[in-house]
Amino acid sequence: MGSGSRGGGSGGSLLVPLFLLLLSFHLSLRCSSAAGAGGNGSGEPYVGVTIGTAVTNLLSPSDLASFLRAQHITRVRLYDADPRLLSALAPTGVRVIVGVPNDELLALGSSPATASAWVTRRVLPFAGPNSTSPNLISAIAVGDEVPTALPSALPVLLPAIRSLSAALAAANLSSSIPVSTPLPFSVVLDPFPPSQAYFNQSLAKSFILPLLAHLANTSSPLMLNLYPYYALMQGGGVVPLDTALFRPLPPSQEMVDPNTLLHYTNVFDAMVDAVHVAVRNLLGNNSAAPPPVLVTETGWPSYGDRRAEPYATRDNAEAYNSNLIKHVLEPGTGGGGGTPMRPGEQASVYIYELFNEDLRPGPVSEANWGLFYGNGTPVYLLHASGAGGFLANDTTDRTFCVASDDADLKAVQAAMDWACGPGRADCTAIQPGQGCYQPDDVRAHASYAFDAYYQSQGRASGSCYFQGAGMVTTTDPIPFLEKWLAMLDRLAKWPHFLSD
Ligand SMILES: *[C@@H]1O[C@H](CO)[C@@H](O)[C@H](O)[C@H]1NC(C)=O
Ligand SMILES: *[C@@H]1O[C@H](CO)[C@@H](O)[C@H](O)[C@H]1NC(C)=O
Ligand SMILES: *[C@@H]1O[C@H](CO)[C@@H](O)[C@H](O)[C@H]1NC(C)=O
Ligand SMILES: *[C@@H]1O[C@H](CO)[C@@H](O)[C@H](O)[C@H]1NC(C)=O
Ligand SMILES: *[C@@H]1O[C@H](CO)[C@@H](O)[C@H](O)[C@H]1NC(C)=O
Ligand SMILES: *[C@@H]1O[C@H](CO)[C@@H](O)[C@H](O)[C@H]1NC(C)=O
Ligand SMILES: *[C@@H]1O[C@H](CO)[C@@H](O)[C@H](O)[C@H]1NC(C)=O
Repeated sequence: MGSGSRGGGSGGSLLVPLFLLLLSFHLSLRCSSAAGAGGNGSGEPYVGVTIGTAVTNLLSPSDLASFLRAQHITRVRLYDADPRLLSALAPTGVRVIVGVPNDELLALGSSPATASAWVTRRVLPFAGPNSTSPNLISAIAVGDEVPTALPSALPVLLPAIRSLSAALAAANLSSSIPVSTPLPFSVVLDPFPPSQAYFNQSLAKSFILPLLAHLANTSSPLMLNLYPYYALMQGGGVVPLDTALFRPLPPSQEMVDPNTLLHYTNVFDAMVDAVHVAVRNLLGNNSAAPPPVLVTETGWPSYGDRRAEPYATRDNAEAYNSNLIKHVLEPGTGGGGGTPMRPGEQASVYIYELFNEDLRPGPVSEANWGLFYGNGTPVYLLHASGAGGFLANDTTDRTFCVASDDADLKAVQAAMDWACGPGRADCTAIQPGQGCYQPDDVRAHASYAFDAYYQSQGRASGSCYFQGAGMVTTTDPIPFLEKWLAMLDRLAKWPHFLSD
């Protein structure tokens, strides 16, 4: 049955009741990959990914844009504001946190005119009602982990944030583009149990308090990079691996905060609540609503030094990121539901990171945080069934082969001819008049044929190569229901199949 084999049995008894239904549907069949990811501006929690660029042969901006679209990734965080990349992302519907690198802080923080020029050059072309991509930039992250990464820039950080906010306000963009700075979680001391957490006193009054005031005043989020992995590594046994990975523990082994009696089933929630407590302790109980928390980095390395970094394994990385996605996106299954202290207030997160940054120096794990290798091959497959259309959909045994957006059309055509001919893929549905003929487009047809071949080969490695015209994705380009309809449509055209 070609590519229809995925997704379980197709018992004959089921076919008949659906049979009449499908006839009215077959004209609207859509068999190509969904166009555009469609940025979502609503308040729903979301999962994005960070994109670091210390990658050998990083994809070109246009290839990166296609890759994000194919993977249904709609939120990304960049560490700078590269206009070539922003131009490529502008038409995709992806929403982007742009960054001010730490080494630009001094210039922006010491001169409002420089900050204003930065906004004019980096932001205005991609923002505002007259731009072609008014929603592209979702926030500006000023610096990254400045208190630990570049403490000498701390005195200019708030001035830089204020100057950038003022420049955005002058362009009437302050309500659509918040400005904040990703803090390292290490500014929160004594996070376990969360009820005892507080901000490092040497930063609290001088830096964090005025930062919080500014964030509240501009409706901007408190950005934090938050890693249960490091809590585990540095926790000296306090943090169990399973809780760091969101794996359920028997109730008797759950972490209970002795002061609040709240039960913590995972370290991530405990860390977020520790931030809430630290904020409350600093602002006092009577302050107006504190800024929401936005997790600008979290993740798990898939490989590391065997002795020094024993938890950096594929299994752990896959478990952490899959469970994280479910936790954030799936209300009603323990996810989307906020923390024990703030039920219903789910922080959105950015997974660190999209690509393994093989050029990063430091411990072995530094180069192994990615979901994908630099060439777009998945490092491991996520298991997050039901978590929406994000790449995280249950990829147990589920990868798909599609025509690469940038492969030459002739090459795509030749590869499709091969797949449907010598490759013996079942290409019936893309023949004229059949369910997946529309859209009559070479890439759409080729994606169908490539995937049919790839699935027929048991997704064997190399079976999606097609001389470079194929690309593996972890997101089903042809939603299952549509394949069913296409298959049933075929049965309707040749009723003798029913009696097989
Ligand atoms: C955004 O998400 C909400 C809830 O999931 C959905 O109803 C809405 O249609 C989405 N909007 C866009 C533009 O995708
Ligand atoms: C957008 O374009 C309109 C019409 O050209 C113009 O009147 C308006 O001032 C522009 N707005 C901005 C923010 O540039
Ligand atoms: C400023 O932006 C808001 C929406 O964000 C809009 O309603 C308002 O008209 C804008 N004002 C000017 C002067 O462009
Ligand atoms: C608190 O912050 C200061 C200044 O950044 C730093 O030197 C100190 O080590 C921090 N204290 C702890 C306990 O992390
Ligand atoms: C809050 O914003 C207003 C106007 O945007 C500004 O005048 C005021 O100084 C700000 N307050 C703080 C604490 O940043
Ligand atoms: C906030 O309230 C808690 C109890 O709800 C109390 O223990 C704490 O002292 C209060 N903190 C401040 C700063 O008022
Ligand atoms: C993701 O999974 C859900 C539920 O299993 C399914 O309805 C949806 O179509 C899937 N999305 C994609 C893009 O595969």
